[in-house]
Amino acid sequence: MDDFDVVVIGGGAAGLFCAATAGARGLRVLVLEHANKVGKKILMSGGGRCNFTNLDVRPDRYLSANPHFCKSALARYKPEAFIALVDKHGIAWHEKELGQLFCDDSSKLIVRMLLAECEAANVRIETETPVLRVQHRDGGFALNTKLGPVRCARLVVATGGLSIPSMGASGFGFDLARQFGHRIKPTRAGLVPLTLSGKPLEAHQDLSGLSLAVEASCGNASFNNQMLFTHRGLSGPAMLQISSYWEPGKPLRIDLLPGDDALALLQAERRDRPNIELRTALTAHLPKRLAQKLVETLFPAFDGKPLRQLREADLAQIAAQLSDWPITPNGTEGYRTAEVTLGGVDTDELSSSTMESKLQPGLHFIGEVVDVTGWLGGYNFQWAWASGKAAAQAL
Ligand code: FDA
Repeated sequence: MDDFDVVVIGGGAAGLFCAATAGARGLRVLVLEHANKVGKKILMSGGGRCNFTNLDVRPDRYLSANPHFCKSALARYKPEAFIALVDKHGIAWHEKELGQLFCDDSSKLIVRMLLAECEAANVRIETETPVLRVQHRDGGFALNTKLGPVRCARLVVATGGLSIPSMGASGFGFDLARQFGHRIKPTRAGLVPLTLSGKPLEAHQDLSGLSLAVEASCGNASFNNQMLFTHRGLSGPAMLQISSYWEPGKPLRIDLLPGDDALALLQAERRDRPNIELRTALTAHLPKRLAQKLVETLFPAFDGKPLRQLREADLAQIAAQLSDWPITPNGTEGYRTAEVTLGGVDTDELSSSTMESKLQPGLHFIGEVVDVTGWLGGYNFQWAWASGKAAAQAL
């Protein structure tokens, strides 16, 4: 193969966007993708409709050992700019909730848009082309690939994280970073369902499919959204969000009556309907099957008694457990189903304005391979676009 100004390893969201932007600047760009097609995660994202950005992108919605690192790139490439590109390609979109923008039709349109931008910028894309070796040589990079040797002045690593290995995820980017002396912040699955085991799993498995609004908190992070019972544990947006902050052993708080004073609710029920049972009272505020389950598992001593027989201390005890549901996940479903990988290439050794390595000039890291991970809701794609753009402008 010829020499290129830029080789981008990884044809995902960040890689394709960076390649198109660099190509549009007149650079000769090659994208090397080891999977059989590019943009696989984009295709499966947002339930097939790609939540491609969020109207309310803010740095504090990203997790990183250095919370300031993402600021520069996010400030220089805003959601409005990506929306303008989507509009230019005639892709219809809508806001679902919380500023999350989705395609009306299909995620395929976003991949098609990125490919059209790459084509217009004369970017060459090679799929099924693993990179076997990378060396820094004569001021540039020499790559051994399945298609033969390639040389480039600048190399962009856009290989993503470890989540969903069946979609092409690999640890190649981390290995390459280590080869050039970079440190990797410990990686783990994020935006991932939490699992239960033993008795808690047995007790709640039959609630699978049931969903309710909760407030899930861990440390200073707190999310008000839906929690979904699954046959393995707990999922839904609230649990996916909090999973990025939680680790086994850390306290996790789940308020089953978010925004309500549980004690005041119970007191009002006892005052207004003294002859009903606890499970009937709870059913007025929680899904019926869950209310029954809570009474069976947490409050069996009060089951069958009319509320008038419950003392103030009993109500306080019940209220405390509804506001801080005593359930402890044993872990997460891991990379198999995680939307993102937390951790990654240490940002201390990258420039926040160009994504260039401070250890190896000409080497850039963009997207999820970097230790920057967004919330659920379009934040991760916005980071892919913004970091890709930041690198492309500096190539
Ligand atoms: P990405 O993973 O997109 O691309 C990396 C590319 O590198 C892949 O094509 C991979 O095959 C390739 N590659 C890996 N190793 C290689 C090697 N050795 N050689 C060559 N190529 C290699 N985010 C969001 O904002 N909104 C959403 O709706 C969703 N939905 C969603 C659903 C699901 C199921 C998942 C798993 C993830 C999401 N995400 C999301 C997260 C989002 O998909 C993710 O953050 C971005 O795709 C990251 O973009 P990157 O380009 O960094 O990696």
